[in-house]
Amino acid sequence: MTPDSLTYLRCEYLVDPLGIDEPRPRLSWVQQSSRRGAAQTAYRVVVASSADRLAAGEADLWDSGRVASDQSTHVEYDGAPLTSRAACHWQVTLWDERGEPLTSPPAMWTMGLMESSDWQADWVTHDPQIVARDPGAQPPTATQPGTPALFRKSFDAPDGVVRATLYVTARGLVEPRLNGAVVTPDCFVPEWTDYHKRLHYRTYDVTRHVRAGENALAATLGDGWWSGYIGWQETRGQYGTLENSLLMQLEVELADGRTIVVPTDGSWSCTTGPIIASDFMMGETYDARRERTGWDQPGYDATDWLPVVEVPPATVRTPRFGFSNNAPADSGEPLPLVAQRSEPVRVVERLAPVSVTTVTPGVHVYDFGQNFSGWVELSAAGPAGTRLVLRHGERLNPDGTLYTENLRRADATDAYTLRGGGAETLRPHFTFHGFQYLEITGIDEPLPLADVRGCVVMSATPPAGEFECSHPLVNRLWKNALWGQKGNFLTVPTDCPQRDERLGWMGDAQVFMRSATYNMDVAAFFTKWMNDVTDSQDADGLFPDVAPRIDEGDNFVGLDGLGGGAGWADAGVIVPWTLWRVYGDRRIVQRHWDAMVRWLDWLERVNPESIRENHLNNNYGDWLCIPADTTFRTHSEMKTLLATAYWADDAAKMAAMARALGRADEADRFDAMFTKVRAAFGKRWLEDEGRLAVETQTAYLLALAFNLLPEADRAAAASRLVELIAAEDWHLSTGFIGIKHLNPELTLAGHADVAGRLLTNEDYPSWLYPVVHGATTIWERWNGWTADDGFFNPQMNSFNHYSLGSVAEWLYRHVAGIELDDASAGFKQFVVKPYPTDNLQHAGATYRSVHGEIESRWRIEDAQFKLRVRVPANTTARVFCPCPSDGAVTEGGQPAAEAEGVQLVGFADGYAELAVRPGLYEFAAPFGQYA
Ligand code: BGC
Repeated sequence: MTPDSLTYLRCEYLVDPLGIDEPRPRLSWVQQSSRRGAAQTAYRVVVASSADRLAAGEADLWDSGRVASDQSTHVEYDGAPLTSRAACHWQVTLWDERGEPLTSPPAMWTMGLMESSDWQADWVTHDPQIVARDPGAQPPTATQPGTPALFRKSFDAPDGVVRATLYVTARGLVEPRLNGAVVTPDCFVPEWTDYHKRLHYRTYDVTRHVRAGENALAATLGDGWWSGYIGWQETRGQYGTLENSLLMQLEVELADGRTIVVPTDGSWSCTTGPIIASDFMMGETYDARRERTGWDQPGYDATDWLPVVEVPPATVRTPRFGFSNNAPADSGEPLPLVAQRSEPVRVVERLAPVSVTTVTPGVHVYDFGQNFSGWVELSAAGPAGTRLVLRHGERLNPDGTLYTENLRRADATDAYTLRGGGAETLRPHFTFHGFQYLEITGIDEPLPLADVRGCVVMSATPPAGEFECSHPLVNRLWKNALWGQKGNFLTVPTDCPQRDERLGWMGDAQVFMRSATYNMDVAAFFTKWMNDVTDSQDADGLFPDVAPRIDEGDNFVGLDGLGGGAGWADAGVIVPWTLWRVYGDRRIVQRHWDAMVRWLDWLERVNPESIRENHLNNNYGDWLCIPADTTFRTHSEMKTLLATAYWADDAAKMAAMARALGRADEADRFDAMFTKVRAAFGKRWLEDEGRLAVETQTAYLLALAFNLLPEADRAAAASRLVELIAAEDWHLSTGFIGIKHLNPELTLAGHADVAGRLLTNEDYPSWLYPVVHGATTIWERWNGWTADDGFFNPQMNSFNHYSLGSVAEWLYRHVAGIELDDASAGFKQFVVKPYPTDNLQHAGATYRSVHGEIESRWRIEDAQFKLRVRVPANTTARVFCPCPSDGAVTEGGQPAAEAEGVQLVGFADGYAELAVRPGLYEFAAPFGQYA
């Protein structure tokens, strides 16, 4: 037996975060024990202002005292008010079910700059002269990225530095450096938010980089979302300017109590550097001959640099979108600077190419064996001036050349000019691409595979789950969904990483979100994104279709624009609801409650008949279903049904959240709204015997999933759904929206066999069709490429779009069987209920919940269903083991009812129900011909 431990101490979902700005941060920990029944009965949190104080038992910030409670997540700090820069060192002790104490190792967080007056720095930009005087540099224009500037400032520090902290943000993207060191592995700082409403800053501990004597603080400033291309926009500068600017503040605390502050201000200097141009969509051009050795070091001669220019701070703006807000407006209020609250974007993995082929002389194509987001880092040597051009693509043409048509206007091209004189390591700084294949030109012979490294870049959300089963193609499908997530969770949940789009499409995000929560811990990621969603809500209450919402230009004049789309805008309710259900997070619901109510108010206001038929705006419907009923901005009965179904479900979710928060009146209001919309739905579309007037797979799925049918009609409706599937020769015909519900609803309605059949179909259209044709991610469309027709129209054909991968959710929830319990949030109590299907002999998953790691793994062996279940300490599970009602379920070889930690509740619907306490269990029950 391994000894018990207390691990994974987190503050606001993050391990040892620096510079947070929650005045009452929430703390969580995980109790680990292999003992059956291990549970927490009480806890005590102590928080001290230094590590020494904590070690000495001096909890000068907070001592919760012993609290009799099994709560181990979201414990709100309740000590002395936390001021800017406060260091908080903490530890937790719990008492287990035997009364034994268990103490964690120490953890920490620091507070950021909570008040705007904490910022002494001025916003600075470069003097345009540095570009004008440099023949190799280029100024920014509406269609051309400008040459990124270098900034520096030297300062003196005495001996006795106890702590040095760098606060940094930019309008643009910044790579900060101190004394020659890159201070952080974070990429793309500050991340994308709705820059009309808020800007993130980052906090870095740079104590180890400061030295006595002269120091140099420096930065490179690129374009990114602020001034570069975003979405499919024809011009750059969507936030009203092409100018980037920088705000940094270094605070050096000395042993004698003094603090030296080095803020950006007019005393800084700037010049151009080796990056000629950089843009997310277009790529980066880098000339290593222009590198300035030592530019970020003390002692550097910067006499030819020019002074920076101070610029006014950014202001809160209302952008041009929606029919109600068509005129952009500037409030004049300073843009709030807020701490970044989610995992930064980082290089999380490096991939070696699996092959290189010289397709025509001088054109070398590398295959990474995996479609991913990021860039390539090269080691190369050659004469000065040698120019290597790197193009990126997801697929190859039949002749082996790179296929790039589907990137639309994204050039996705990086170019490096070698400095000469030895080996050089080259990588881009302010761009990323979505690709599996890389083409290098400019050298006669290909570089060796070992000198070409694929850097996988994403928001560094921690891995949470893994799925595995007896069907290798299904395993690859699960992996493809995981890679879809890796490729698209980059500061916001994007639709795709390769073409000129890469937007936070809300429909895609909401259908995939449950899958995402199983694959990775996305609590902080979605908490951050929900701010983008609410920031982009318009004055009427419409949630956007993409968040951050982008300036919509003239295309949308007179329309609601990118807002209010059914199944898209509804993510404004679905995201907080999911965060509450999966992570037990109530604060997210409280924070966005008013915004959600405004959205429901709007739906009700514009649809007095309780059918959601007005202002459907872009009206995407069941996007990319077969046959397509998704033409942009057209209307159909199916689309109205879909919209109404989502409205009803929004109302049901609102009622559930209101109830959980103790808002009884509002719960009643939304219950009533649900009942009314459900009745209108029934009146318009429900016919006899569970038939719907609109007969698509998705119509039935939504009616079942959102509880829109009378109980008595559900079974008939599910049978009709199966008939529709049979009529397609047992194939699916849903798009983005229906697909999330297809296998779960079939399974819950007693048709797991049909779900299993759909899962393992290999012919078009099916999940495995792309897999058997070499897909390593999820494709945007079922017919992205078909054997008959080749590539679909490149105007909209991404090979890395996660939406159709939302089946991953079903693999975890119903195949492995790890499911939320309706009665509990955050997996504090959960359900294990696998639904075995004929085509799988074994399946299982692990999932690291906020309460610890859950495991469910089954196999069929010796005419028995064998089920291994891990219930983490301090949780309980209701385990449903397939078993005939007259059969015997055992645990560890003995009758389950006698096993420690297990209580046999009963038999129903082919399952034995067991109430299970923490521990690892091996259940078995008769299966097959005996069942
Ligand atoms: C995106 C989607 C998105 C859709 C809206 C597409 O261009 O790539 O994934 O949801 O537009 O219908």
